[in-house]
Amino acid sequence: MQVAVDGPAGAGKSTIARILAEKLQLIYIDTGAMYRALTWKALKLKIALDDEEKLYNLAKDTSIYFLQATGKQGIYCDAVEVSDFIRSPDVNDKVSLLAAHSRLRKVMVEKQREMALDKSVIMDGRDVGECILPHADYKFFITASLQERASRRMIDLQRQGHKDDYDRVKCLLRKRDESDSSRETGSLKILNDSIVINTDRKEVEEVVAEILSIIKDN
Ligand code: DC
Repeated sequence: MQVAVDGPAGAGKSTIARILAEKLQLIYIDTGAMYRALTWKALKLKIALDDEEKLYNLAKDTSIYFLQATGKQGIYCDAVEVSDFIRSPDVNDKVSLLAAHSRLRKVMVEKQREMALDKSVIMDGRDVGECILPHADYKFFITASLQERASRRMIDLQRQGHKDDYDRVKCLLRKRDESDSSRETGSLKILNDSIVINTDRKEVEEVVAEILSIIKDN
């Protein structure tokens, strides 16, 4: 079984997809984490985020993969575990600039398709249903209001020990939505075969149960 989970930042996609992966015995692939890992490396190498050519080469030459260590899935960038680094405010602010480049996206989509080839997976991102798993058994579009998503992002940041301001977080989310929705390829959108799930005022368990009931009913 292959499940695509798309939606805007902060809607709860990763949390929900991770739980569903466990319950349905699927491999979980967080495609946003892959764009974040590449952004982390680009920032470290001081590559300008508008330098298409350099970023394209960076994507081609970088190995990004997931490994299960001490019961938790970690993301690695050229053998360095970057799971914590990729959640920093700096990466948050810059990742959609990098993700906007079409040639780089082609390289990433190729890597992501390879990861999913002949496997039972649940993948979350923006273009999973459209570009990575167009034949997925289920395509969910998980969304929530901007206010709710900003509040959740604040809680995540605090939990990770980062300080930020609610209005700034909300403004950045709005900008990220705009940039994710308006780019040339792999933009964020509801597809004809997407099942839309709104998570406003819902507990994670409620959303998971809702999705499981849709899958079981089919
Ligand atoms: O889901 P996230 O917030 O970790 O995603 C980080 C960024 O990567 C976000 O700006 C959108 C981008 N992204 C993308 O363009 N395509 C994907 N398949 C996944 C994420």
